[in-house]
Amino acid sequence: MPHGLLKGKRGIIFGALDNKSIAWKVAERCAEEGATIVLTNAPAAMRFGEINALAEALKCEVIPADATSTEDLDNLLTKSMEILDGKMDFMLHSIGMSVNVRKKKEYTDLNYEWMKTTLDVSAISFHKLMQSAMKLDAMNEWGSILALSYIAAQRVFPDYSEMADAKALLESFARSFGYHWAKKARVRVNTISQSPTVTTAGSGVKGFTDFFGYAEKMSPLGNASSLACADYCVAMFSDLTRMVTMQNLFHDGGFSSMGMAPELLEE
Ligand SMILES: NC(=O)c1ccc[n+]([C@@H]2O[C@H](COP(=O)([O-])OP(=O)(O)OC[C@H]3O[C@@H](n4cnc5c(N)ncnc54)[C@H](O)[C@@H]3O)[C@@H](O)[C@H]2O)c1
Repeated sequence: MPHGLLKGKRGIIFGALDNKSIAWKVAERCAEEGATIVLTNAPAAMRFGEINALAEALKCEVIPADATSTEDLDNLLTKSMEILDGKMDFMLHSIGMSVNVRKKKEYTDLNYEWMKTTLDVSAISFHKLMQSAMKLDAMNEWGSILALSYIAAQRVFPDYSEMADAKALLESFARSFGYHWAKKARVRVNTISQSPTVTTAGSGVKGFTDFFGYAEKMSPLGNASSLACADYCVAMFSDLTRMVTMQNLFHDGGFSSMGMAPELLEE
């Protein structure tokens, strides 16, 4: 049931590719809670994704932007302020892609040119977005900026490969830039570390289906769904979480605190 938690707020949501995308659910929930939003994704994703159907359903605009291009980000932020008639109150970075994982390169045999692209798309784009937004003065006071992360930033999950390092960098940017945003405009910056979720990016990781089942058993509450993640994002964009910043917040049904789950021994 909607609570009007984001009434009057404006935001930009990156990364809704299809209806399995976490960002898709976040966009739907933000609209339900009264926010006005702009959707964005990489120009290539416009061709094979379904973002236009979401925009039609939510009656909002789509502005293509490659999140690694500061020019595209500047254009996105400037146009969003025009369309929504004001500065942003929230932004969601929901972007991840590993070239080495896609091309099945092992972690001990990485192609470093591909790794640069992985880090640029999955982590440095977050810094670029925050830097562009700060230069353009695009965020309202007490705004909220979020990116989505994964626990492989802290613990070893071998098949997650270089994405683990990309997520560690992403979380570090939330802390480091979070300081500057807090001082400049009391804007908070956090990452949400989400359970494995069945999406295009998630399913690209080797052994994802088996691991999804393992995490489901390891987490006392089970894996957090994308809809539950969207609810958490809404809470983080709302005025109820104004003093939470520079954190990596686990949204994982308890997985990150577990050492051993008896359920897994019973097999
Ligand atoms: N699915 C999971 O198991 C899981 C778990 C924890 C965290 N996450 C994170 O959640 C976020 C969203 O992923 P998802 O699982 O919803 O998958 P998804 O494939 O639906 O979303 C990934 C998005 O990144 C976009 N993207 C890729 N390159 C881009 C670029 N250059 N510029 C702009 N956008 C670009 C894609 O078009 C896509 O929309 C990612 O950061 C992912 O790492 C996912």
